Formats: sequence, structure tokens, C-alpha cells
Amino acid sequence: MRLILEHVTKKFAETKAIDDVTIDVEASCIAVVGGNAAGKSTLLKLIATVLKPDEGRVLLNGIDVVRQAHLIRKDLSYLPEEPALLDTLTARENLLLFAKIKKASYNEALLSNLRFEPNGKKLVRNLSKGTRRKLSLSIALLGEPKILVLDEPTNGLDEDAKQAFWTQLSTLKEKNVAMIIATHDTEEIQRLADTVIILEKGRLVKTERLRSTTSHVQL
Ligand SMILES: Nc1ncnc2c1ncn2[C@@H]1O[C@H](COP(=O)(O)OP(=O)(O)OP(=O)(O)O)[C@@H](O)[C@H]1O
Ligand SMILES: [Mg+2]
Repeated sequence: MRLILEHVTKKFAETKAIDDVTIDVEASCIAVVGGNAAGKSTLLKLIATVLKPDEGRVLLNGIDVVRQAHLIRKDLSYLPEEPALLDTLTARENLLLFAKIKKASYNEALLSNLRFEPNGKKLVRNLSKGTRRKLSLSIALLGEPKILVLDEPTNGLDEDAKQAFWTQLSTLKEKNVAMIIATHDTEEIQRLADTVIILEKGRLVKTERLRSTTSHVQL
């Protein structure tokens, strides 16, 4: 996957969440790191076509994510920082609904891989934070996306679920699924990421290559 940003700026009133960032990286797994308010979530939203830049262009595999958003959305799955779930439905009902929206098949194996068993009559609003997170991750993985954009995916997960999740991502990486992951879990991400993008107060500090990449994703 090739990710290019050309002088990208995104402002919220006076705050420059992303401030004149230029990047050109080729990697199958990109980590986005930086402290709180560095602009990680904003960068992921720009890539996932949730937000549009005020200035500059974002290109994913040569595709302009604003002008050809439909092509990006077809192959990309985005996990927001805060789970976006239907609170008055059960976990299974959420999964079935999102599978339908994504025209994806619902696969029980996907869930057991995350140590998540959505049986039960509890409504999503009554589930624990970690369980909601697992559900949200399961939804992001529905439909075999080619590119995963994940915002702090292991936030709130217990150790067992965290390990299961990173193992699952390694398997997906071997299957040529490309990933862009914002995380504070810097130890874990180093095992997976080929390139790290470091942000600070909306500015690019540097991009760092950890290993060479061999896989290619075509949109
Ligand atoms: N919708 C919004 N309205 C106003 N300001 C926003 C909005 N979204 C982000 N910001 C601001 O942009 C800056 C970057 O926020 P962002 O959420 O991208 O940071 P982050 O690196 O993801 O931080 P964290 O580690 O806390 O998740 C912050 O100053 C934040 O307050
Ligand atoms: Mg964030």
C-alpha cells in the first residue's frame, strides 16, 4: 500500500489538527503514533474518508480519497476510536445488521478468534467497555476488507483479548490485508508495522521504516 499526503491541513476552528503534513510511504502495515491531540485520529479519519482536508491531497494507492471516495470505501474498513454501535440491539443483532449493510457474510470464527462470544440477550448499552470494543472490532473485520484503518484498536481490551487481536492482525497481514493503525501500544505495533508515522501537535515529526515490505494491495 502506498500512502501519500501532499501538504495536508485539517483545521477545527483555530486548531490545526493536521498542519501541512507531507508523507510518501510504501508499507503493508503503517503505525501512527504520537501523544494525545497529536492528530492521529484526524489523520485516520482523512484516510478513511470520514473527514475532508481543508488543504492538500491524500492518495491511497494512487487514488484521491476525496475525489474517488467510493473506490476507497469499497475496500476499506474503519474502526473509530469510540465504538459506533446500535445501543438498543444485542451484539449479535449489531453484527447481523452491519454484515447486511456491508453485504458481508457473518462468520462465527471471526468472533471466537477475538475471544468474543456474542450469545446472550444483553443489549449493547449494557455490555462492558471491553466487550463493546471487541464487538466493534468484529464489525470492522466483517467482509474481508483489503485495507484496515484502526484507531487505538486494543484500547480497553484485557491482556488475553489483546494478544488474540494482535495474532489475528498478523494472520491478516500475511494474507495481504494492508493496515493503518493509530496506537499507544508501541511495543506490540513494532512487531507488526513496517513503517511508523510520528506526529506531534498536528505536525509530522518523521516517518521511520522498521522493515522492508513485500506485500501489495490493489484497489
Ligand atoms: N471534531 C473536532 N472539533 C474540534 N476539535 C477537534 C475535533 N477533532 C479533533 N479536534 C482537535 O484536533 C486535535 C487533534 O485531535 P486528534 O483527535 O486527531 O488527536 P489524537 O492524536 O487522536 O489524540 P488521542 O491520543 O487523545 O486520541 C486536538 O487538539 C483536538 O482537540
Ligand atoms: Mg485519537
